[in-house]
Amino acid sequence: MKPCVPSVLLRSALYVPGSNTKTLAKAPTLNADCLILDLEDSVAPEAKIQARFNVLETLQATGSNLHPLRVVRINAIHTDLWTDDLNTILPGRPDAVALSKVESPADLEGPARLLQQHPPPHGSPCGLWAMIESPLGVLNALAIARHPLVTCLVMGTSDLTRALGIPGDPQRIGLRHALQHTLLAARAARVPILDGVFVNIRDAEGFTAECREGAMLGFDGKTVIHPSQIEPANHTFLPSEAAAHSARQILDAWNAARARGEEICVVEGRLVERLHADQAARCLALRELAQNKH
Ligand code: COA
Ligand code: MG
Repeated sequence: MKPCVPSVLLRSALYVPGSNTKTLAKAPTLNADCLILDLEDSVAPEAKIQARFNVLETLQATGSNLHPLRVVRINAIHTDLWTDDLNTILPGRPDAVALSKVESPADLEGPARLLQQHPPPHGSPCGLWAMIESPLGVLNALAIARHPLVTCLVMGTSDLTRALGIPGDPQRIGLRHALQHTLLAARAARVPILDGVFVNIRDAEGFTAECREGAMLGFDGKTVIHPSQIEPANHTFLPSEAAAHSARQILDAWNAARARGEEICVVEGRLVERLHADQAARCLALRELAQNKH
């Protein structure tokens, strides 16, 4: 199976509390690949209604040009808030809606129906991002990821840590299986997946280490909570210049081999097959997306 060639960058996805007009105004000026305008856990119960209108205003003020991607996180379907959340914000044409605490494909049906009742007049349909943040959500991740409207999975590691009853350890030992299981599901369904947040905004070293771990595990990017976390995430989840150089060598050698009617070649002592050429193309596609962003 070919690795998915990404169409958008998802290295950093910044949560922005929908009740905080100051952070909502600042967010589009930052360099996050994606903004997750939040109506859920960062918003106090008494601010929930106002937050919807703040978020709608931000959506209308930013417009959809995919830089940054504008996603709205709505309240979970077991609350009595999610329908009004969706009905209020959909006229702002978000690029996606993130649904918190998804535990099964059935949880997606109500929001999916509402989305289908409000198709955008033009452009691509609004996708659903499913947050996986409970043991049941992890176990059902493949079925969730395969839902036709799901365009991304997002790890909710804080809720998951609590639900698993494990300590919040920097090595994430207790989370490791859940992270990898959900990642397998995302890859099998061919949707991207984002790692959870790192909550200590003063620990830059710890944050970068966790970004690296996420990248090694295969995540496409990381959800972040503070502007200072954006650049380290953007940097870590982008293939390096050295990787791009090697990708160019691989593609040149591969194209030359194909022109000779051959299916394999050797670059710097390493065997190159079609799968390596596909990986190299993915690497260069990510670099190109980052270049075009500016
Ligand atoms: N989005 C946009 N701007 C943000 C931001 C965010 N998530 N977090 C901080 N900022 C802005 C601040 O408004 C401030 O702007 P200014 O320099 O123009 O005054 C600047 O970045 C520096 O902020 P700082 O003072 O260091 O942080 P803080 O004490 O104001 O806020 C948090 C700290 C954690 C409360 C804040 O970062 C936050 O709300 N993060 C998101 C939390 C969230 O959404 N959680 C839910 C998902 S886990
Ligand atoms: Mg959560």
